[in-house]
Amino acid sequence: MVWELFNLLKTAEEEISSVQNEKDLENWRIKYLGRKSPLSLFFKELKNFSPSEKKELGKKANEIRKKLVDLYEKKKNEFQADNNLHFSPVKQNKKTNFFDITQPGKKTPLSHLHPLTLVFNELTDLFGNLGFQIVEGPDIETEYYNFDALRIPEDHPAREMWDTFWLAPKDKKQKSKLLLRTHTSPMQIRFMEKHQPPFRIIVPGRCFRYEATDFSHEIQFHQIEGLVVDENVSLANFKSIVNNILMTFFRKNIEIRFRNSYFPFVSPGIEVDIKFKKAKSSVYKNKWLEIMGAGMVHPELFQNVGYEKNQWQGFAFGLGVERLTMLKYNIPDIRLFFSSDIRFLKQF
Ligand code: FA5
Repeated sequence: MVWELFNLLKTAEEEISSVQNEKDLENWRIKYLGRKSPLSLFFKELKNFSPSEKKELGKKANEIRKKLVDLYEKKKNEFQADNNLHFSPVKQNKKTNFFDITQPGKKTPLSHLHPLTLVFNELTDLFGNLGFQIVEGPDIETEYYNFDALRIPEDHPAREMWDTFWLAPKDKKQKSKLLLRTHTSPMQIRFMEKHQPPFRIIVPGRCFRYEATDFSHEIQFHQIEGLVVDENVSLANFKSIVNNILMTFFRKNIEIRFRNSYFPFVSPGIEVDIKFKKAKSSVYKNKWLEIMGAGMVHPELFQNVGYEKNQWQGFAFGLGVERLTMLKYNIPDIRLFFSSDIRFLKQF
């Protein structure tokens, strides 16, 4: 009986050496390892033997089964290795040693850019075309740059607008408390301290706020800060640049609304909302969504960084990048951006 199984192993070995594709391999597996294979039937018969025979025969049959499984796995791995040769259009026929160079190559799965990266790239290009220089600042800021230098002292109610992640002090000597920046505006001060006007810059970067999340609020999000300082800069210039950028970015009929607002570091302060005019499928149909805060740079900021009095004027803005991306691609919830859900990312 065991002898028959050894013969079976020999035949199985011969047959598998001529298996050429995965379909034939599956047939081989069913024939030699399937539920109705001679080996499986043999295991079922074992119960009719005495305990000592059962032990001996069972051991032998298991050895044969292991050899069959090894043969199967080896062949399967060979096929898989062949499939993984993405870049090789040349396939070798193992039997004839023939290379068919006319066979098309396997498609390599391409990775995707995150929608926020797409929007950052597009916006920085658009601003670049209008002569803006790109600068970057630190995610970890001091209380001074994030608040005080922007005319937001400790007891100012405007601090409540920016719920803050404070960082534990490194040592007692540390002068200004550290925090995760709540907006990109600190870079206005950092840049002006080191550069004389005229200039126009944008500062793309990550911001953090300790606040409840909902469909349009996250605890981490991105802004693009803008700062333009020259001798004759007005709100009309700001409106024209915002119109130009948003119309080109959305390539759709949008309505832009400028509202009065308050930020201690600008005067007057403005908020900008947009709405799609004819968005049939948009989840934002007929709804205004706030996308940026802005205004004319407060003269006290110029004094603080040592600029000549009354010589310069400027405007600044802070654009919410997630909000713009949501509007552009009809993304219903800001929390999807950091969900790492591959089904979401594959759509871009
Ligand atoms: C500010 O952060 C000001 N620094 C903007 C500014 C810059 C004003 C320069 C004047 C001059 P605000 O808190 O409104 O403002 O945020 C600006 C934009 O960031 C919002 O319009 C919104 O699009 C986005 N934003 C704010 N909080 C969140 C959040 N939690 N999640 C996602 N986006 C947010």
